[in-house]
Amino acid sequence: MTEPAITETTATAEQTEQDITVTDRATDHATDRSDSPVLMLDNVSYSYTKGGKKVIRNLSRSFEAGKVVAITGPSGAGKTTVLSLLSGLTSPTEGRILYRGKDLAKADRYRYRSHDIGVIFQSFNLLPSLSVEENIILSMDASGKQFTQPKHDIAIGLLAKVRLAEEYAKERILHLSGGEQQRVAIARALSYDPDVIIADEPTGNLDLGTQDDIMAIFRELAHTEGKCVIIVTHSPDVASQSDEVFQLAALRRQR
Ligand SMILES: Nc1ncnc2c1ncn2[C@@H]1O[C@H](COP(=O)(O)OP(=O)(O)O)[C@@H](O)[C@H]1O
Ligand SMILES: [Mg+2]
Repeated sequence: MTEPAITETTATAEQTEQDITVTDRATDHATDRSDSPVLMLDNVSYSYTKGGKKVIRNLSRSFEAGKVVAITGPSGAGKTTVLSLLSGLTSPTEGRILYRGKDLAKADRYRYRSHDIGVIFQSFNLLPSLSVEENIILSMDASGKQFTQPKHDIAIGLLAKVRLAEEYAKERILHLSGGEQQRVAIARALSYDPDVIIADEPTGNLDLGTQDDIMAIFRELAHTEGKCVIIVTHSPDVASQSDEVFQLAALRRQR
């Protein structure tokens, strides 16, 4: 049940290893075509070393807007690798990753990562001595995106979205519980309003009540805002609260 999560650093999203994306389909969200996937794995294979064992083999899958997709599978099945591919951190050895129909290999991946996809790391990667609001605003600044509203107002709105009272804005991360930090990590991932939210084991260290609260937030983001939400989980309970389950089989030994 414990699976290597993603240990990452925050502000530089360079070396992380996880992400996922989903697509939107029919919500009132601004996608042009209702049924076009937001993200797509198109016959993707991946080996960590040239000519080495494939850890992902001929994987195809669409991720739509408006849905929460749970990626499950045994440890070593390649879940984190899939997140990393979907988030544009690594490129497939074979096949393509398409974001709104465009091959990520030919797209501006920095822009993709800083505007279109929000990643929630298992270890949160919040800056502990800074406040909640400072963490969120740093992420907005790092994205380089233009905002029409004052950042403080956006941050407060995001806190409401993740069901944290406004007073939390000034609180330092190190004073927060695990569940509260998870909410802040989600708010931060939402800060530049990406289409896709990807999370590796977002409820792995939380008690059941908090887990359900977090899942309710993800479902709301998908169902009312049309986000494409992709989460890796080991929990059958979390998978059952998702709209779709993408089960990865262990492939490693077959090669
Ligand atoms: N950096 C790496 N170099 C070589 N092999 C790796 C690396 N990262 C993961 N792997 C291997 O790839 C396979 C899939 O790993 P991973 O995507 O982390 O699976 P999961 O997240 O499902 O546990 C595993 O067999 C793992 O040992
Ligand atoms: Mg993993």
